[in-house]
Amino acid sequence: MAKLIHFDSFAHLATFEKKMSNLQESTHNTKIPKHIAIIMDGNGRWAQQYGKERSFGHENGVQSVREALEGCIEKGVKFLTLYAFSTENWDRPKDEISSLMELLVSSIDTEIPTMIKHNIKLVTLGDLSTLKPEVEDRIRQAIEHTSHCDGLNLVVALSYSGRWDITRAVKNISAQIALNKLQPSDITESTISNYLSTAGIPDPELLIRTSGELRISNFLLWQMAYTELYFTPVLWPDFKKEHLFAAIEEFARRERRFGKTGEQLTNN
Ligand code: IPE
Ligand code: IPE
Ligand code: MG
Repeated sequence: MAKLIHFDSFAHLATFEKKMSNLQESTHNTKIPKHIAIIMDGNGRWAQQYGKERSFGHENGVQSVREALEGCIEKGVKFLTLYAFSTENWDRPKDEISSLMELLVSSIDTEIPTMIKHNIKLVTLGDLSTLKPEVEDRIRQAIEHTSHCDGLNLVVALSYSGRWDITRAVKNISAQIALNKLQPSDITESTISNYLSTAGIPDPELLIRTSGELRISNFLLWQMAYTELYFTPVLWPDFKKEHLFAAIEEFARRERRFGKTGEQLTNN
């Protein structure tokens, strides 16, 4: 009996040591997500705290975008996707939409030299055709100006929603089938991924949502099948690099099982 206890405790010790070494490895930042997606939420409530208009919150959110970018570069994250404006956000008051769009283009314009300096490539997800032509033009120009950069990929989801993305993919797949260029039996999960606007971008490993809301709000629905979710009460304009690092550390501590058992992971 004593022998058995002895044997068991050694087995536990080995598992424990393995877990500790995984933890140490992770806290030494070896487990850095390749792709982080952020739902930047809480600008309106932040402005309200100061008795100001919602647009004041959006303006102050720009600094948090810089913080997130810097933090991702420091940690070697390859893709940062920011949810900037959802399909549903078109239902907001007209004034707020215009001030958001103005802020978006003016920030992108001012940040182009910094993006180039830091080797940041801008790409967008979403239905740009819903934007005013001058807004669309300026965004396309920024995309063009940073197209040679090969450091961090900044993916801005703009006039985007997960359902819009999936609907568009289904339409395009159906069109290919109608032209007899694709057979229904050939459709795989990769086919669908390749028809989404995120084709070529790895699925996000970590999603951060600020402001304490616990929902996905029609973001990357297909792509987040196995994403680790991290919710923080911090309002977006208060979000600093250390908040990003805290999220990355929490990510590193998570055990991502992908349907397997914990034992399978420990033994491999
Ligand atoms: C996020 O902040 C910015 C956008 C959705 C564009 P909100 O504007 O949603 O701020 P809250 O959630 O009302 O505080
Ligand atoms: C989600 O925030 C969209 C963006 C951050 C762009 P919302 O503030 O629009 O989300 P809901 O409506 O509260 O879910
Ligand atoms: Mg909100």
